[in-house]
Amino acid sequence: MKATIIFLLLAQVSWAGPFQQRGLFDFMLEDEASGIGPEEHAPELPELEPLGPVCPFRCQCHLRVVQCSDLGLDKVPKDLPPDTTLLDLQNNKITEIKDGDFKNLKNLHALILVNNKISKISPGAFTPLIKLERLYLSKNHLKELPEKMPKTLQELRAHENEITKVRKAVFNGLNQMIVILGLSFNSISSVDNGSLANTPHLRELHLDNNKLTKVPGGLAEHKYIQVVYLHNNNISVVGTNDFCPPGYNTKKASYSGVSLFSNPVQYWEIQPSTFRCVYVRSAIQLGNYK
Ligand SMILES: *[C@@H]1O[C@H](CO)[C@@H](O)[C@H](O)[C@H]1NC(C)=O
Ligand SMILES: *[C@@H]1O[C@H](CO)[C@@H](O)[C@H](O)[C@H]1NC(C)=O
Repeated sequence: MKATIIFLLLAQVSWAGPFQQRGLFDFMLEDEASGIGPEEHAPELPELEPLGPVCPFRCQCHLRVVQCSDLGLDKVPKDLPPDTTLLDLQNNKITEIKDGDFKNLKNLHALILVNNKISKISPGAFTPLIKLERLYLSKNHLKELPEKMPKTLQELRAHENEITKVRKAVFNGLNQMIVILGLSFNSISSVDNGSLANTPHLRELHLDNNKLTKVPGGLAEHKYIQVVYLHNNNISVVGTNDFCPPGYNTKKASYSGVSLFSNPVQYWEIQPSTFRCVYVRSAIQLGNYK
């Protein structure tokens, strides 16, 4: 029976790397602590599973990182190892993300899909990713963001897509934990009122190089927002309550970076009191001066 255990152990190691190996050791240690030898338990061990997912063809897998960039892939490879924590699919030709593409990846923390040709993401495609913290979708052809995002997401970047509007539903679907939202270089002309209220922990909002005509609503009431990039837009007016709450008693983190240059609004048209809640002058880049 001992031999079976060792065989199982070795088999686990060669399939899945050191992570699972530790799990099995823990299991054996527990057995020892309880005074029950592995012999008694051995008959209850699960049958040897059929050979599980291996590293997808031409990808490289190491320490739970699966690296499949620059392979000309037109879809997400099948049977990705379920213990993957980082999946890199950048610089491929993937056009669509389908439900089920990531169905086994319960341990995934970061997903890199930058520089593909993705124009469609099925609504439930990311929902199995219950530990996903970082999602990079920049340089694709997305016209909108999916409404259902993992609740663990802290950083979402979708720069250089074709997003035209940021709807409130997208913020509703994002989780409360999100800290960084990057949407630079799209064609965004508006951000729905009330969107920011759904992401109370947002610290960075990148909306530069879009087509916004006004400062997104809700920044003044937002407690933690510190970085707001709005340069290279079509903002012609900035109101005195766009960034700071009317009263001085409101608790609000100070801004560390706000950019408004390259907009039709001229810096001398912006009332100095607009930035009354900013304590570091250099945090504000109004420029059109160089
Ligand atoms: C958005 O909010 C601002 C300020 O509260 C308000 O003036 C504006 O009319 C609202 N816009 C829409 C479309 O609800
Ligand atoms: C900028 O906004 C104005 C309306 O405020 C609009 O007429 C104009 O077409 C916009 N310019 C661009 C480049 O989107």
